[in-house]
Amino acid sequence: MKKLQLLAVASEIFPLIKTGGLADVVGALPAALAHEDVKVRTVVPGYPSVMAALPKGKALRTFAEFFGGPAQLIAGKAAGLDILALDAPHLFGRPGNPYSGPDGRDWPDNWRRFAALSRITADIAMGALPGYRPDVVHAHDWQTGLTFAYMHFAGGRRPGTVMTIHNLAFQGQFSPDLFPLLGLPPEALGTDGVEYYGAIGYLKAGLHYADRITTVSPCYAAEIRTPEEGMGLDGLIRGRSGVMSGILNGIDVDEWNPETDRHLAAKFSATDVAPRALNKSALQSFLGLDQDATAPLFGIVTRLTWQKGLDLLLANVPNLLSQGAQLAVLGTGEPGIEGGFRAAAAANPGRIGCVIGYDEGLAHRVLAGSDAVLVPSRFEPCGLTQLYGLRYGAIPVVARVGGLSDTVIDANPAALGAGVATGLQFAPVTYEMMRVALERSIGLYRQPDIWNQLRANGMASDVSWRDPARRYAAMFREIAPAD
Ligand code: ADP
Ligand code: GLC
Repeated sequence: MKKLQLLAVASEIFPLIKTGGLADVVGALPAALAHEDVKVRTVVPGYPSVMAALPKGKALRTFAEFFGGPAQLIAGKAAGLDILALDAPHLFGRPGNPYSGPDGRDWPDNWRRFAALSRITADIAMGALPGYRPDVVHAHDWQTGLTFAYMHFAGGRRPGTVMTIHNLAFQGQFSPDLFPLLGLPPEALGTDGVEYYGAIGYLKAGLHYADRITTVSPCYAAEIRTPEEGMGLDGLIRGRSGVMSGILNGIDVDEWNPETDRHLAAKFSATDVAPRALNKSALQSFLGLDQDATAPLFGIVTRLTWQKGLDLLLANVPNLLSQGAQLAVLGTGEPGIEGGFRAAAAANPGRIGCVIGYDEGLAHRVLAGSDAVLVPSRFEPCGLTQLYGLRYGAIPVVARVGGLSDTVIDANPAALGAGVATGLQFAPVTYEMMRVALERSIGLYRQPDIWNQLRANGMASDVSWRDPARRYAAMFREIAPAD
């Protein structure tokens, strides 16, 4: 089989820069695709954390002026990844969150930052680096959507193109007044181009010009064809449904391996699950929870946003506590939700433990120490924490939406009878249905035979990248130019 050269582009990549699952996926795909004879180079913005990881990086191109300032394209290896970083301090030399400033507001020049990222990627795709001709370009989310518009108007041999939607809630829409600054020809500004209801739509552009569109689960692929879930892009998505598919995310099973995880108080495995109890008591002690091995401990690790349905969990706190449960919360996000969990923890010492912040190691410890992981999202393109839960024996209790519905098998009587259940699902995503799901979970927790079976089934399920990587590789081969 011919080795395929894939040029990926994204605004996040684990472990160099991460705000959510996008980074995990972009960081894990190269190793997974290597097994399929696909060689990946990834273009990312040269944020401070990225540049710090490339001390021996080599400048492949230097620009006196690139979207408003000097820039270099730096090539280097970091954490096993082949990185091409756009080092442009005027655009990316800002520490912290990649999209917003210290006041939590989006940077006003995000249109320029991510147009620049897309432009450099398109230039590389079209042959700007001597000796490097990618077969396929894989762009992730709105920040990279203009790439395919630039490639479309460049002319010449063009690699195949795939646009992956990780979250339709983020579309990158900007004022049409900015159009002349993007360096696209006038004919690109139309509904048959980058225009989106009178604005410029970066994700829309990517979806319009891509050869193939994917999203991160089959169920989300179906949902976003509907006006209810399509967030205004459902018409375009329906029109392109012939080239669209859902490929479920995997997880990095080396990074997330309870047998070797250096973050844990005690390592464990599917065949030796007993030491898991030590992780529960370590988590209880770290969060100031009562040392109680018998209390069902629910964990959450998440961005604290409306998407994630956590207001419904806050409303359900009294129900959880009245049934003897404990809650471990790790998250950061909207101040109102952060405040809600802080207040709940302060009002219920010993029962609710809460860390507001971002902590990779603690995320591992919450998944290893909780009995169940809660993911009550209103919508969820894939979701990774329920996959980490399956692998770490924290039984997922999830909303039946998007990738959550594709990855968790509900413990209904039929699935229990067949011995295949791995967690609990609830729908619709309301206070009342969540209350019922929590009550069901606690009921099953108090029947150790069933609970242990759920855990064993989950820990035995394949959540690796093996199968998804095969699907991506097969698609890349279909669209690679023949030469
Ligand atoms: P999304 O990308 O919508 O945030 P996912 O479930 O796909 O949701 O991915 C979230 C990723 O971010 C997971 O790897 C999760 O462990 C991680 N994560 C989210 N919040 C935190 C946090 N506060 N601390 C550490 N890791 C977090
Ligand atoms: C997005 C989605 C999440 C998905 C992740 C990685 O952030 O919200 O559901 O798992 O991307 O694809």
